[in-house]
Amino acid sequence: MTNECTFQLNRKSVDLSHDDPTESLLRWLKRRRLAGTKEGCADGDCGACTVTLRETGADGRTRLTAVNSCLLPIGALPGRDVITVEGLSEAGQPLHPVQQALVDCAGSQCGYCTPGFVMSLFAGYYTGALDDETTEGNLCRCTGYRPIRAATAALAELERPQDAFAASLQEPALPPRAALGRYFSPLDIAEALVLKAQHPDAVWIAGATDLGVELSHGKPVADAFIALDRIHELQELDVGSDHVRIGAGLPLSRIETELAGVFPALDQMLPWFAARQVRNRATLGGNLGTASPIGDLLPVLLALDAVVHLRGAQGARDVAIADFFLDYRKTARAADELVVAVSLPRVPAVAGAPFGLRMSASYKVAKRQTDDISIVAAAFDVATDNDLRVTRARLAYGGVAAIPRRATRVEAFLSGRVLDAATVEQAQILLREEFQPLSDHRAGADYRRALCANLFAKFIAAHLPGADA
Ligand SMILES: Cc1cc2nc3c(=O)[nH]c(=O)nc-3n(C[C@H](O)[C@H](O)[C@H](O)COP(=O)(O)OP(=O)(O)OC[C@H]3O[C@@H](n4cnc5c(N)ncnc54)[C@H](O)[C@@H]3O)c2cc1C
Ligand code: FES
Ligand code: FES
Repeated sequence: MTNECTFQLNRKSVDLSHDDPTESLLRWLKRRRLAGTKEGCADGDCGACTVTLRETGADGRTRLTAVNSCLLPIGALPGRDVITVEGLSEAGQPLHPVQQALVDCAGSQCGYCTPGFVMSLFAGYYTGALDDETTEGNLCRCTGYRPIRAATAALAELERPQDAFAASLQEPALPPRAALGRYFSPLDIAEALVLKAQHPDAVWIAGATDLGVELSHGKPVADAFIALDRIHELQELDVGSDHVRIGAGLPLSRIETELAGVFPALDQMLPWFAARQVRNRATLGGNLGTASPIGDLLPVLLALDAVVHLRGAQGARDVAIADFFLDYRKTARAADELVVAVSLPRVPAVAGAPFGLRMSASYKVAKRQTDDISIVAAAFDVATDNDLRVTRARLAYGGVAAIPRRATRVEAFLSGRVLDAATVEQAQILLREEFQPLSDHRAGADYRRALCANLFAKFIAAHLPGADA
């Protein structure tokens, strides 16, 4: 039997109507004594709790993705299928090929992280995405990554699977309809706005990779939630010749693949944003919703002159990203408004077009190479005329102020100047003075100021022919 509060767990229907929708899937599994899925951090950082989620999207495609069960509120489950490590092979049956590959390559010692690796590899095995990035969100403290990478490589050599799991990818998941208690799951924007008018204190929740951390730790975030992750209109990607419009609810991993090659600055930032399991759920709307000074996509949006499309009870309006961030975690979005989409111009506004050179890139500096919070993130978009005179300069930074900010004084200095070594040197001096960043446990203010200058020099050296800055 299926109803609105049902989801499939390892291909069996489970009714959630009597459960707390804000409980994390990880906790819920433990209460059910499904102990295969492990808890390492309950923060989305270690991947021990990885499960796979099967869902049918707006485009009718059924997708299988690895997600962190510690961040996923069970309110998000109705209409979706979850496969945990227990669902791979019955007791007494041969191991699943993914498990066998880890055994054959000696990819497990204490085994605590292994179910998480298995489930990330499982998603990669059925979607054909098997490389070192498949398990980038999984940490192992004792085996070492070489045997695990060997197992990944061995799986990638196998023929594409043709078993029951592969067949299930062709079937639609359950009808996407659900409302679990005060966890509402509207199917369109209009319905979401009506719900917000009826429940003004309800909080929008999209991928839950930010809110899920608080819920996972039992923090009382809100009495009611309006989930955005079933609204098809929020997941549209429209690639036009002048503009690209990205639905605020499109998971970042889909932006990564479906928009690859269009905006280099976006392409370069996305792989350093959290890890695969988080990107499979996290959204651009959520990154704008947190308005964190260290939100990594925010400098990219600033550098690319994004326009934020909002909708609320009063109607729709557009806000230029330059006017969006007002103060620490305060934005121009009213509480009852939704970020619906973000548009990025493909051809930027330049004085005196056509231009000779357009350079665009982004950088993230953190203590760890992957899955870490930025010390400083930067995105640059610079154009010159044929004489290398700057016609457009966007230098945007995260981690240097209470909000993500452009270095507007340096942009004004660069504008109209020939981009030679002297100009770049002077810009670097000015960049050290542009912001008054904080010192914290991640880095000192001086280091952050130096990064602002040095990342710009690195950008110029990488993009300007013959530059020795
Ligand atoms: C392990 C881990 C690593 C992370 N790494 C990074 C990182 O490298 N870089 C980085 O920038 N962030 C990182 N994050 C933070 C988080 O993943 C991002 O902020 C993400 O973009 C949030 O998107 P979401 O859809 O999951 O938001 P949610 O958690 O669903 O919501 C976040 C906030 O945005 C609001 N909101 C969501 N959608 C909308 C909308 N459409 N309109 C209006 N408001 C909305 C919600 O009400 C909430 O206040 C990390 C988080 C974790 C747990
Ligand atoms: S328990 Fe560490 S990512 Fe979920
Ligand atoms: S095998 Fe022990 S943590 Fe990975």
